[in-house]
Amino acid sequence: MDNRIDKVLISQEDVMKRSAELGRQITKDYQDKGEAPYVVGLLKGSVAFLSELIKHIDLDIAIDFMDVSSYEGTKRLEKLIVNKDLDVSIEGLSILLVEDVVETGRTLIEVKELLINKGAKEVRVVSLLDKVMKRKQDVSVEYIGFSIPDEFVVGFGLDYKEIYRNLPYIGVLKPELYK
Ligand code: IMP
Ligand code: MG
Repeated sequence: MDNRIDKVLISQEDVMKRSAELGRQITKDYQDKGEAPYVVGLLKGSVAFLSELIKHIDLDIAIDFMDVSSYEGTKRLEKLIVNKDLDVSIEGLSILLVEDVVETGRTLIEVKELLINKGAKEVRVVSLLDKVMKRKQDVSVEYIGFSIPDEFVVGFGLDYKEIYRNLPYIGVLKPELYK
């Protein structure tokens, strides 16, 4: 284990197992709907989870990425900034939005609104983590990997100041490292 990690919250084995379960559930749900989603990952946090998840989605999906900012440092920006937009028009498409973690819910609300305004027929959300206790805005998340307590976590895509995304598990840093 990385010696900067205080504790492992979710092991690599559990993350992979849960990703496979979610992939199978998503496959079944969209088979029942008779369509395949256009999978949209939010950069950069969702990349590791998306890579694992899509191996278990047995449908003809296309994938795309979006990069948005809603924070500047720790200060909330008034409006969402789109740093990287989608490659194609999503008019009439069913979107499966992939997130790393839902905290207040604000990012998701704004991205969902943006995708609907771009003409998406439907937007469903799959998030690896959910910090239910931190929720400030009501937003539906159809597929959740794990509900976690209010702790700042890193690994499996999640960063602290852009580092630790490549850890294969989800953990909490030693307190002296958060500054
Ligand atoms: P929300 O808009 O408050 O729901 O914020 C969600 C975003 O904040 C996520 O997409 C992450 O980029 C970031 N975030 C929230 N909690 C954590 C964490 O524990 N570790 C790393 N990033 C986090
Ligand atoms: Mg994020």
